[in-house]
Amino acid sequence: MSGMCKREVLWKRENDTSEFVEIDIPSELLISPASQPNQRLSLRDEFSIASAGSNIDFLNLFSQYAGWNQTEPDLELLVSLDPRANFLASFRYKRFDLPLGTGTVMPVADQLYWIGMILVHPKVRRQGIARKIMQHCINHVRQNAPGATIGLDATPEGYPLYQKLGFNVTTHLWRCRIDTDNVNTGNVSTRFNRNLQENAIFDYAKDKKIPASQDLLTRLIKHCPQGCFIASRGQDCVGFVMSRPGRVAPFIGPLFADDLDIARSLFGIACRVWLERGYDNIFIDVVEDHFLQKNNPENSEPGMPSGHLLSDHIHPVRPFIRMQLDIPANAAHKEFLPYRYATFGPEFG
Ligand SMILES: CC(C)(COP(=O)(O)OP(=O)(O)OC[C@H]1O[C@@H](n2cnc3c(N)ncnc32)[C@H](O)[C@@H]1OP(=O)(O)O)[C@@H](O)C(=O)NCCC(=O)NCCS
Repeated sequence: MSGMCKREVLWKRENDTSEFVEIDIPSELLISPASQPNQRLSLRDEFSIASAGSNIDFLNLFSQYAGWNQTEPDLELLVSLDPRANFLASFRYKRFDLPLGTGTVMPVADQLYWIGMILVHPKVRRQGIARKIMQHCINHVRQNAPGATIGLDATPEGYPLYQKLGFNVTTHLWRCRIDTDNVNTGNVSTRFNRNLQENAIFDYAKDKKIPASQDLLTRLIKHCPQGCFIASRGQDCVGFVMSRPGRVAPFIGPLFADDLDIARSLFGIACRVWLERGYDNIFIDVVEDHFLQKNNPENSEPGMPSGHLLSDHIHPVRPFIRMQLDIPANAAHKEFLPYRYATFGPEFG
């Protein structure tokens, strides 16, 4: 290390000591520790944004770094829907292109697009990288589908930025952990048979105006057919659930059903799939409207809702704020869909 440089390990894969990039950052590039609690790389606006195409390496790196739940197949699915909208911000320094941040746009349905994976490395935050990635994402939709709706699921950290860019709240979601020790897994078992029942899901989605294209539904089913179940009454589909593996824990969603009893059965069946595989932690993302106590002050974690209609064993872990671009600020909770008991998850809109 020369006297002018400080060696920083900027990028490191989780549980992996062999694959990382070490760079020498010249002292003049570092923001003074006096003004910042941690030294950070100062970019002076000299970063660029380009599409990484079908390459999911950077998304995977950033997702792991942030402790998010996506598996590599999840990211492949996400990017496969529009590889041109897999954006990577990077900084050219000597021989290296340093990855700084990511962002994706996913077509969810006709005229509905979802921005996701907005992640910026902690050492380069507050320098406009996320803002610029967001602008690329928005422009991508504007150019390819003029007039389309653009949505996203914000973390509380991302919320101020999206607000500044013109997004407003439509509803609140909660990432929840399912307490599998006590969950009632029910006794109705309708194993999903792809060939016979895929069409039933398409028809149900159309009938209930579920905002998801046939293409997306097909890919989700193919992604983890053993985690998909439909409930039927006579010839009619009355609900379905999907579930899939996760990097941290398996994930249940989407779950749509005609009524609460059906939703509970589907929830129990999906839980059982992962319990039988030995998982004792499962995630589910639900809308706040289905909690009985929306903000119970007696809760051990103040501000967390409790008493979910599906099961007492659904415990909120962290919130997501569902937002949409160019809607009035008073549109909150306009998005309530009575049939939706669990969402696709922020990765899938
Ligand atoms: C949220 C995140 C992507 C922001 O990245 P960033 O590159 O630091 O954001 P920017 O520098 O582009 O900030 C843009 C604007 O948001 C504001 N902003 C950013 N973070 C903020 C915060 N924590 N609180 C208040 N304002 C904030 C900035 O002031 C800036 O406003 P300005 O342009 O008017 O000055 C980054 O903090 C991150 O990766 N967090 C962890 C992952 C995450 O939660 N991602 C969001 C997923 S929805």
